[in-house]
Amino acid sequence: MKLGKTTKLVIVFLSLFVILFVAYYTVDIIANNYVSASYEENISLTGARLSDEFYSSMTKAATWESATGYASQFDFEVYNTGNSNLSNWIIKIELPSGSKLENYWGVEAAFDESSCFLYLKPTYYNNVIYSGENIVFGIIVTMDEVFTPTEISIKGYKISSELTDMIKRIILLLIIVLIIVFVGLLVTRVNVRNYKERQRNDVKIILQSMNTFINFIDAKDPYTRGHSRRVAMYAAEIAKRMGLSEDEIQNIYYAGLLHDAGKISVPDAVLNKPGKLSDEERKAIQNHTVAGGKMLLQLSSLRGVRETALYHHERYDGTGYPDGLKGDIIPLYARIVGVADSYDAMSSNRVYRRHLNKDEIIEEIQKGAGTQFDPSIVKYMVDMINDGYVNVVKMETAEADDDHEKFHLTEDDIPGVYMGFQQ
Ligand SMILES: [Fe+2]
Repeated sequence: MKLGKTTKLVIVFLSLFVILFVAYYTVDIIANNYVSASYEENISLTGARLSDEFYSSMTKAATWESATGYASQFDFEVYNTGNSNLSNWIIKIELPSGSKLENYWGVEAAFDESSCFLYLKPTYYNNVIYSGENIVFGIIVTMDEVFTPTEISIKGYKISSELTDMIKRIILLLIIVLIIVFVGLLVTRVNVRNYKERQRNDVKIILQSMNTFINFIDAKDPYTRGHSRRVAMYAAEIAKRMGLSEDEIQNIYYAGLLHDAGKISVPDAVLNKPGKLSDEERKAIQNHTVAGGKMLLQLSSLRGVRETALYHHERYDGTGYPDGLKGDIIPLYARIVGVADSYDAMSSNRVYRRHLNKDEIIEEIQKGAGTQFDPSIVKYMVDMINDGYVNVVKMETAEADDDHEKFHLTEDDIPGVYMGFQQ
């Protein structure tokens, strides 16, 4: 089962939460049982100060006559006014002989009839009387006479809590930080997802607009049908193999799609002329670069697209057109698209010739390295031919079937990376 990134995130954070909570309660248990010193003290119930660390108040809530004598209800509060916590405490109250414990609450109680001592122990919840806190409990006792206790004794274990309190505070802080980070990451993921969705839509709109435009170019020159899309795809693959960033690959794809946009200004008769071209006609065709550059002047938001249309027929040795740029002065996108463009020209049938076979194409491209093409780009194109990314034979079969639609690439044919769709 493949888990989504968000699910993984939730699992990781939940695990961390569980670990921290377990750690917190483990430290708590250790702290409550880490005894540093035993403690025993008497506490006055009459207001006299017998202990610096504990203070107790008692209320005789009610007294009534019963069948065996007198019944009294006593309500107690014991305050820990010291600096340390007291764990596993026992409170001892001496009662007159013949007393009977009738009821109790807030504590576990046991009456030793032989010694007449009433022992009160913590319930599960108040094993520790924390510094600054109190416990409340009550008893009902029947006695032969009317009696009011004046003193209780408290016994227990002082627990050293400084270190464990600090650890608990650190754990709590970590839990808070974790919650903040978790919420932050979730919000970011949702935003990124929305952003990607928007970006996807933007790319779709750009591509649909470009495809519409490219259809005009294709309509003018049926022999190069699908040319712009194929060049775009090859150029993007070269860029990918060169290790360029996703944004650059995306832009090169756009640049490839629009590199021949200027052809729209070349007269059909010239563009589709089967025979030899006159100088003037050749000039008109060559002018598609300058015309493309002008047309795409407004498309400055897609970096490199205009330069590619303008310079994709420049040659690495400086003998190309329109400006005779040389070497690395030719913009990178134009150099890449130049190689992809030539590969597609060689691997497609033209009105005046059939396409070349695989070996001939490789030979031609390698021959052009350093003269027509940037040699560092040529090697990627040759790799693509050799490893079958581009396939001349497959194209030949398709063309023989006269099924040009097979080359009518849509965004679905393009690997996700070029579309900005890669997740
Ligand atoms: Fe061109």
